[in-house]
Parts: sequence; structure tokens; C-alpha cells
Amino acid sequence: MMAPVLKVTDLKKAYGAIQAVGGVSFEVMPGEIFGVIGPNGSGKTTMFNSVLGQISPDAGAIELNGKNITGLSPLELSRRGVGRTFQTLQVFGKMTVRDNLIVAAQEHTGSMFGRMFAPPDSGLGAKADALIDQFRIRHVADSLANTLSYGQQKLVDIAMAFMAEPDLVLLDEPCAGVNPSLVGGISTLLKDLNRTRKGSFVVIEHNMDFVMDLCHRIMVMVEGRVLAIGTPAEIRANKEVLDAYLGN
Ligand SMILES: Nc1ncnc2c1ncn2[C@@H]1O[C@H](COP(=O)(O)OP(=O)(O)O)[C@@H](O)[C@H]1O
Ligand SMILES: [Mg+2]
Repeated sequence: MMAPVLKVTDLKKAYGAIQAVGGVSFEVMPGEIFGVIGPNGSGKTTMFNSVLGQISPDAGAIELNGKNITGLSPLELSRRGVGRTFQTLQVFGKMTVRDNLIVAAQEHTGSMFGRMFAPPDSGLGAKADALIDQFRIRHVADSLANTLSYGQQKLVDIAMAFMAEPDLVLLDEPCAGVNPSLVGGISTLLKDLNRTRKGSFVVIEHNMDFVMDLCHRIMVMVEGRVLAIGTPAEIRANKEVLDAYLGN
């Protein structure tokens, strides 16, 4: 039996009277693309932020490759191979695409000051260039990020998460705000990254066609709880899911 990369057990987080996450458990296997769907306010981002050390959960355990990582800081998690993208863009508009990638990698290796006094390029340029080619953004590599379309900036944002060569990447709505014509490209890209870099992904996304096409398994969250976990075919055929979510 393969051991899970990520194991979340009975995770809970409340904001006052709102139980944002009310006892969520799931496992992500090596190399798996694990989708998370659910209506707005169902606790997807709160679950993500708990796993990523951005907020501290009220209860529950989070294990990475069998080790307890509950309560570790985002920096410590990134050192242990956990990457993320945010629901909103996190690129530096006044920097070139290539420099955005390089800074993203430096962020995970040290402090701001460490970065400023570090040698200008310690192999990061080559890593950035490999991702620029894989993401097919060579033609804009030297452009300032804020001159790119939203969809292209999203690609840069995703590429930044891969600079640290993570084993596990959590992506919060990678297609949000992206022109529908580019959604297929993001799916193809994530499949390519999954195949060539052997990482596991957890992907929150509203775009149902995208999730069904991309993910090996999908977890459906409703009101802070897990309604179902299964393959795309199982989720499509699940009556409870249809009633509670897909049907509306
Ligand atoms: N920082 C916060 N303070 C208070 N309530 C919050 C906060 N973050 C999320 N919530 C509430 O928790 C619930 C789950 O939100 P969220 O995790 O963002 O859901 P989703 O990502 O599925 O849309 C919602 O009712 C939301 O209003
Ligand atoms: Mg959200």
C-alpha cells in the first residue's frame, strides 16, 4: 500500500458562530491530482489555509509524508516541499516575468535581507528558464508582469509556485478570472507538470469541466463538511452530490 503524501484528519475551524470547516478528513496519494469542489462559503479556502499554516485550525491533524505538520509556518512548510497559489494573483507587477520566478524561489530559501545580499543568481535562472519554456511564456519572459493579460499573469503565478520544486502544490481556483479560452491550456499544463515533475496537486476550482477533466479524485465540500470523495465518474453519478451541488 502506498502511503499518502497528505493526510488531513478531522480538521475543524470556526469563525465565531460560523463553523467554516467542521471535521474534514481526506488523503492525497503520491502523484495524485485531487480536486476540491463545493459552493461558495463551503470552507474550501479555510481548509487550504489550515493545511498551509496560514491559519491555525481549532482541531484536527495534518500529516505530510507521515510527519505531523499541524501548526507549522508557511515558510517551514515551503521548505518541506509544500507550495501554493492563491485565489488572487500574487505576482509583482513592476518586475519582469523571469525576475518574478527568481524572487519566488528566493522567498522560500531565506529572509528579505538574505535575498538582497545573496549572489545574484545561484542556479535559479536556469530553473526559471525551464519553467518559462514549460509554461510557454518565453515571449514575455522579459516583460514587466503588469503588461501581461490576466490569464498570462495567472500562468506566471502558477509557475512561481513550482520554482521551489514542491512535492505537493495546493492551487486555489487557478481558473478564476481567466478567459474561458485559456482554461484548457491551464489543464494541459497542470497535467504536463504532474507527469514531468511527479508532484501531487490539490486543486480548488469552480469550473466543473476543468475539475472533471483534470482530477484523479474529487472531494465535494458542503457547509464545512465532506459530502463525497471519489473519481470524476463516481462524483458525477453520486445522487447526494447531484442534489446538493451539481443540481442547483
Ligand atoms: N477570516 C474570516 N473571518 C470570518 N469568517 C470567515 C473568514 N474566512 C472565512 N470565513 C467564513 O467561513 C466560511 C467558509 O469560507 P471559505 O473557506 O472562504 O469558503 P470557500 O473557499 O469554500 O468559498 C464562510 O461562511 C466565510 O464567510
Ligand atoms: Mg475560496
